[in-house]
Amino acid sequence: MKIGTVELPDFPVMLAPMEDITDPPFRLLCKRQGADVVFTEFIASEGLIREVAKSRKKLELSDTERPAAIQLFGNNVEAMVMAARMAEEAGPDFIDLNFGCPVRKIVNKGGGAALLQNVPLMLEITRSVARAVKVPVTVKTRLGWDEKSRIIVELAPRLQDCGIAALTIHGRTRAQLYGGKADWTLIGEVKNTPGIHIPIIGNGDVTDGPSALIMKQSTGVDGIMIGRAAVGNPWIFSQVKQYLATGEHLPLPGVAERVSVCREHLQLSAQWKGEITAVLETRRHYARYFSGLSDFKPFRINLLAAVSADQVFRILEEIEESYKL
Ligand SMILES: Cc1cc2nc3c(=O)[nH]c(=O)nc-3n(C[C@H](O)[C@H](O)[C@H](O)COP(=O)(O)O)c2cc1C
Repeated sequence: MKIGTVELPDFPVMLAPMEDITDPPFRLLCKRQGADVVFTEFIASEGLIREVAKSRKKLELSDTERPAAIQLFGNNVEAMVMAARMAEEAGPDFIDLNFGCPVRKIVNKGGGAALLQNVPLMLEITRSVARAVKVPVTVKTRLGWDEKSRIIVELAPRLQDCGIAALTIHGRTRAQLYGGKADWTLIGEVKNTPGIHIPIIGNGDVTDGPSALIMKQSTGVDGIMIGRAAVGNPWIFSQVKQYLATGEHLPLPGVAERVSVCREHLQLSAQWKGEITAVLETRRHYARYFSGLSDFKPFRINLLAAVSADQVFRILEEIEESYKL
């Protein structure tokens, strides 16, 4: 499968962009477990062009995580074009445009999923960015704004005409936020729309091998993207790929490996964003790293209360010791 000029395996399994989650340390861990493409978290075009340090730092990619995409959001054509040119200088394999973020602070400013209510502007941004950069440009969006405007089947060919190299569809409307169940039927309809020749990537509620296979078979998509199920579980990529290839369920690794990966995650994060932020942000991964362990609650409480990396490392040692066979 190809996105623009970027050669990918057949049916790539991708790590979805997630704010404050898909930073370089976590992307690396997912890559090691087989994620075929990783995405940065979304980056504000306006922040980038104002040279906001936090936005610029999010552009950094390492060669170990390729192919990797930088994702941008915004609602101003010139700002998006300028930001895309700056992003291109960081050397991504492609640039992804976010037209799906449902969060109020983004939508109220006309960005993310708000563009689903302003299709002419969405198309203008897409066309202008695709013309402005040499790397392939992709789009990630939702089915539509709400139940009454599930426009993705008519929208997809128009986005394709703007020159994008792939389209990722999250099977929810903006109004659904992250609730309810993702509806994959329209993703399948887009894939089967005559004239659609770019890869269509399915997203929303793929949580394991069997759900990945159902998404693949029921929609015919060219690849899938996994978000929440990867949090604290980079092994989801090896599990899904193994299942798709052989039908075999790979078990989660033992406690020693989970402790080791969790420890490395925190170490890399501390180098990347400083100890305190790393300790706080890694909290959202802990429960998942150790999912399925009986009587884990006291450890979880301690992990969530820890305020230094050393404290976390000590608790991780205790976990390893307690769950030794
Ligand atoms: C905490 C969080 C942050 C997210 N941040 C982004 C983002 O920066 N850009 C984006 O396109 N989608 C973002 N998403 C949406 C995911 O990429 C994905 O579309 C959504 O979670 C559905 O896929 P899933 O069911 O596999 O999680 C975010 C989702 C979550 C839960």
